[in-house]
Amino acid sequence: MSKVTTLNDFILERQADFPFATGELTRILNDIAIASKIVSRDVRMAGLVDHILGAQGEVNVQGEEQQKLDVIADKQFIKAFENGGEICGIASEENDDFVAFTSESAKKGNYVVLFDPLDGSSNIDVNVSIGTIFSIYRRISNVGSLATLEDMLQKGSDQIAAGYVLYGSSTMLVYTTGNGVNGFTLDPSIGEFCLSHPNMKMPETGRIYAMNEGNIDICNPGIKEYTQYCQSFENDKGAPYSGRYIGSLVADFHRNMIKGGIYIYPETTTSPEGKLRLLYECNPLALIAEQAGGLASTGKNRVLDLEPKRLHQRVPFFVGSKNMVEKALSLLK
Ligand code: AHG
Ligand code: MN
Ligand code: MN
Repeated sequence: MSKVTTLNDFILERQADFPFATGELTRILNDIAIASKIVSRDVRMAGLVDHILGAQGEVNVQGEEQQKLDVIADKQFIKAFENGGEICGIASEENDDFVAFTSESAKKGNYVVLFDPLDGSSNIDVNVSIGTIFSIYRRISNVGSLATLEDMLQKGSDQIAAGYVLYGSSTMLVYTTGNGVNGFTLDPSIGEFCLSHPNMKMPETGRIYAMNEGNIDICNPGIKEYTQYCQSFENDKGAPYSGRYIGSLVADFHRNMIKGGIYIYPETTTSPEGKLRLLYECNPLALIAEQAGGLASTGKNRVLDLEPKRLHQRVPFFVGSKNMVEKALSLLK
């Protein structure tokens, strides 16, 4: 029988790879793992417990109706980050503004975390996979002071670590510290994330494309050309690709990580900047994609090179297998 490597063991083993190996990042990743186990438990109860399922009755800053689980997950992660002493502030999809933690120990924290507490929340009520996405940066402001907007608006290429949790048929945590990507599956019988997908690589090509094709006529014509290419017998595979769109970015992304594929959320005439948020959806997944050999672009620029302007800024997003993203971009020109 081979030895089980828990997330905890793995993070400790890798701690020395990290340039600022003080144990702080180790503790942050542990805090994320604990919060995501709690959220995973709540997700698993969603059909059974009334206070978990359904709409919260409020609309977030982006005009989207908040689900109860969006708010539960947001609070759970904030609680984990606020009390650890490593994190001085956070930004999340569910908070209009960033939150600077005010305790003396938090003000001494060296890091900020940006996150989407529950991604794909329109899928909660119908028992379809959802996720959490996170992005970690070192602060720019002085240690001992309150976190600032500048700490939050950093380029994706400056991320120290990024990852996602997928609440799917099993719960998985996938993360990178810029040294490859590793995936862990939650074993509910022992309550531990166990290394199940070491050194993940995204296949260079695949035959799955994921986009909301309901939007096809309100996109750039190059997008239609690409989907027609995907559907044609004249493409690189000589047969139509499969269209798969879950509507949970984390789940669509994770499937493509494993099987090879492309995910597209372009700008449309109704959402001229695209839909997905740069700081807590696109940047973390872009880092993971690149670390796994894939690509992430806005259609014009590498996602990780963008200088963020606003906390909830949206960008068009093309992410996945390298050859597929390159082909889609070539048709946009
Ligand atoms: P969130 O639930 O965090 O607001 O994110 C939803 C996102 C993403 O997960 C998904 O891929 C996309 O919105 C779906 O949008 P459409 O319904 O417009 O296709
Ligand atoms: Mn989301
Ligand atoms: Mn969300």
